[in-house]
Amino acid sequence: MDKIKILIADDVKETRDIVKKIVEFEDDFELVGEATDGKEAIEIIPKVKPDVVLMDINMPVLNGLEATEKITELYPNVIVIIMSVQGESEYLKKAMFYGAKEYIIKPFNFDDLVATIKTTYTRYKNMQTKSEVTTEIRDGKIVSFFSSKGGVGKTTLAVNYSIEMSKTKKVLLMDLDLMFGDISIFVDGVNSKTILDAIDDDEIESISTIKNYFFNYNKNLDILFGPKKPEAAEYIGKETIEKIINIVKRHYDLIVIDTGVNFNESTLFILDNSDYILFVSNMDIASLKNTKLGLSVMKSLGYDSRKVKIVINRFNTNYGIGKKEAEDVFKESIFLLIPDDEKTVVASINSGKPFMAGTKILKSKLEKAIETLAKELEL
Ligand SMILES: Nc1ncnc2c1ncn2[C@@H]1O[C@H](COP(=O)(O)OP(=O)(O)OP(=O)(O)O)[C@@H](O)[C@H]1O
Ligand SMILES: [Mg+2]
Repeated sequence: MDKIKILIADDVKETRDIVKKIVEFEDDFELVGEATDGKEAIEIIPKVKPDVVLMDINMPVLNGLEATEKITELYPNVIVIIMSVQGESEYLKKAMFYGAKEYIIKPFNFDDLVATIKTTYTRYKNMQTKSEVTTEIRDGKIVSFFSSKGGVGKTTLAVNYSIEMSKTKKVLLMDLDLMFGDISIFVDGVNSKTILDAIDDDEIESISTIKNYFFNYNKNLDILFGPKKPEAAEYIGKETIEKIINIVKRHYDLIVIDTGVNFNESTLFILDNSDYILFVSNMDIASLKNTKLGLSVMKSLGYDSRKVKIVINRFNTNYGIGKKEAEDVFKESIFLLIPDDEKTVVASINSGKPFMAGTKILKSKLEKAIETLAKELEL
């Protein structure tokens, strides 16, 4: 049998230490994490993937009742067992109502705790297997493509990078260039549903409903298209974007986001929450100038060069400016150069078939550059 993975959430160190000792002593158990309040418990669940959470009721920041409710909603397969002291029966009833599966009264001894965890685990795991509700918890990373000038190739790179990444990871590509998003054209899906349909139909509360609005590009890549009309951007606010991202993060390994060119509230939320920002620029003077300005905004937002990566797209030697000169302008190093290859790119957009979807053995420089991007960006 696999070990039962346990997370303990209690603000009292002694209780955590007792539980730790018991768990270490029992061969079938493994302690995967410790939290000192409910909020911390919720945050570490996707990282440590526990089977069972042992939850104290009275904790600072977020108490055990609210945390139980949230965990049951977000991670229905995680079993919450409440630990409470005598005389909290009112709370206990509430905890069970909020989705706790069992409770144990403190102070407990070794046998009490081991027996409670094992019987509760066995009972609920059997039920879950039968109803096949077991869904794997993921902790999606976010890579966003940003630029401070339009037309530099954000969408081209986001689409092709997503396809390359989908060879090894479960990827969701989101078109959050809410005014002029055109990913649907790039992948020949113009008649498909968009983020706006999902919002209008009020179906963005859970993955089971929102996924009906994804375009399934391949087995590992889903795409959420942007609205078809620019005015829609006005009523898709930061709260909506935040809600959707928080849901999808738990179901994909990687979320790739194509952003708009302005620093509005939604874009700032996306950038703040990105693991990497690929700042796309070209080599003409207007691009270089805007990129330099954009980079200084990034700096003032507190993002460092580990997070913000400069990618020069359409690189060629005709501008009379080389990599070194551009780095002198930015006072930052350039992460990657992507070659200019109009023939390949234009043909791929016009046919709705991204170039990374090709099966040719002999790869172009452009394809190789996208492969490098996928390899070099550590996720
Ligand atoms: N590496 C490349 N080589 C040649 N042409 C390219 C390359 N990358 C992009 N292009 C061309 O540049 C144009 C703009 O590309 P794309 O739509 O991806 O940019 P964008 O930054 O998303 O623009 P927008 O601001 O409109 O969203 C397209 O017509 C595309 O053909
Ligand atoms: Mg674009």
